[in-house]
Amino acid sequence: MEEAAGIPLLQTNSCGEDFAEEKNPITQMSRGTLKERYWVILWMFISMLMTSVLWAIVLAVYLHPARSNQTIYEQSPVAKLASLKQHEHLIDGSLYSVYESTYKSYINAPSRDVDALWDGLSAEGSEVVLMDGESVKFAGFDLAKLVKAPANWTTRTGDLYPVQIDVFHQIHCLDEVRKQMHAWHYYPELNSSGFAQKTSPTFQHWQHKNHCLSILLQNIICHADLDMVPHRWTEWSKLPFAQFSIKKRCTNLDALLSWNKENALSDIKQKWSTIQRPESAYVWPGYGEIHPDN
Ligand SMILES: *[C@@H]1O[C@H](CO)[C@@H](O)[C@H](O)[C@H]1NC(C)=O
Ligand SMILES: *[C@@H]1O[C@H](CO)[C@@H](O)[C@H](O)[C@H]1NC(C)=O
Repeated sequence: MEEAAGIPLLQTNSCGEDFAEEKNPITQMSRGTLKERYWVILWMFISMLMTSVLWAIVLAVYLHPARSNQTIYEQSPVAKLASLKQHEHLIDGSLYSVYESTYKSYINAPSRDVDALWDGLSAEGSEVVLMDGESVKFAGFDLAKLVKAPANWTTRTGDLYPVQIDVFHQIHCLDEVRKQMHAWHYYPELNSSGFAQKTSPTFQHWQHKNHCLSILLQNIICHADLDMVPHRWTEWSKLPFAQFSIKKRCTNLDALLSWNKENALSDIKQKWSTIQRPESAYVWPGYGEIHPDN
């Protein structure tokens, strides 16, 4: 708009012709012509300035993280702290050859090796890292209502807050569902009684499993993956068959895991069992459960 306002001014101004025809030095110019030239230069300057400001606003709005397709990723302090970059990754969506697939070791029949793989992927035992207050506040939390790390937990200075990165809890939850798939191996004594009965000995078992199922469902809904799964004609199926092996933009979990390992608190179980609640601590009612308003 500023450009459009500037151009007609230059085109209609007689000074344009003057510049082409005038061969005399400035000293010979009439006062009026000189003044007009100053105005033209001033207008050119103002319109260029306004155009630049307009472009800066357009770019700032367009490139703002909230408008890009990597919103959460770019806004998370963890991505910056762990120097995470996204990369293109081909998912292994095989069905008939799932036991030969990339993640075959994770879906093998239950064993100590399989458990160890899942524990590694969910940072089991090293899931707690200390985060600076600024980052926790940036993520939207009220620092006054959170547990602060006692001074003897770390050599780092300043207020630090024990946190876990959500993906590790989600993988832990998927592992809980996996274990339920193999209940005959992990819970041989379990039967279906007392599913939702508070007095049942199995109540907490099902509560935990269903907490996990609910967490995973909500996260899948939340991220609502919009990638496309097309269909193909294949030699061995009469019906069109989906191509679940598709390219995705993925966070580098290996990089996140190494950052998490480097920053993990050691002996976290011992630390949790000896931590004292300070007199001044904010105490949440009940278990501090939060239900979104409906
Ligand atoms: C920190 O100090 C408290 C209180 O003195 C103690 O109970 C706890 O074991 C200590 N924790 C560590 C990790 O040293
Ligand atoms: C499940 O196990 C409990 C205790 O082990 C037993 O009392 C109950 O009858 C069992 N229920 C079923 C449906 O088998």
